[in-house]
Amino acid sequence: MNIDKYRHPENNIENFFYERWSSKLFKSKTIDKTQILSLFEAARWAPSSNNAQPWRFVYATKGEFREKINMVMNPYNRKWATKAPLIILVFSKNQNDGKENRSAKFDTGAAWMSIAIQAKIMGMNTRAMGGIDHDVAHKVSGLPIGEYSSICAIAVGFSESDYNDLSENIPSSRVKLEEFIMDKPKAY
Ligand SMILES: Cc1cc2nc3c(=O)[nH]c(=O)nc-3n(C[C@H](O)[C@H](O)[C@H](O)COP(=O)(O)O)c2cc1C
Repeated sequence: MNIDKYRHPENNIENFFYERWSSKLFKSKTIDKTQILSLFEAARWAPSSNNAQPWRFVYATKGEFREKINMVMNPYNRKWATKAPLIILVFSKNQNDGKENRSAKFDTGAAWMSIAIQAKIMGMNTRAMGGIDHDVAHKVSGLPIGEYSSICAIAVGFSESDYNDLSENIPSSRVKLEEFIMDKPKAY
């Protein structure tokens, strides 16, 4: 495994940040309940505005409910993601203490990243999918539209090969730091 072929951090960071990547090829190896709970435990400790913890996760491995969850994904994602041993639907709760929670999606994103990093540390791979039918996600989960927002789905599993050089399945690169950090914003 040599991720350095694809990714070149320019400053010192822990390896797991750039070694996490999103595969589309999963082994048939299953994920057991203890491992699943570890992923959600990592999410549990994510920071959130007012400690509202607005993330909600609905998951399935196999069986009838998994079949239903497979139907949430669009046909493109369904083609590869049905092979993942675990699919998680991600929602955020839009209100806290009767008021709009403007940070709900932001905080839910932090929780997803915790899942992704914990999975990476456990030797697993995750790929988020925005390509889903949000109405079906609400229906399948029973979480009502309005009260909750459907954000995405996540495929989790053990990557089939580290990097198989399929153009669709190699770790992507990134823009330079200068593109998204500003120490002298132009407005000043
Ligand atoms: C919210 C979100 C939605 C995404 N939607 C899809 C998707 O529908 N299908 C897909 O194949 N990949 C999807 N991705 C994966 C991204 O393409 C991937 O994270 C990005 O190219 C960066 O690559 P990396 O995760 O390997 O670092 C999504 C990622 C995120 C975070």
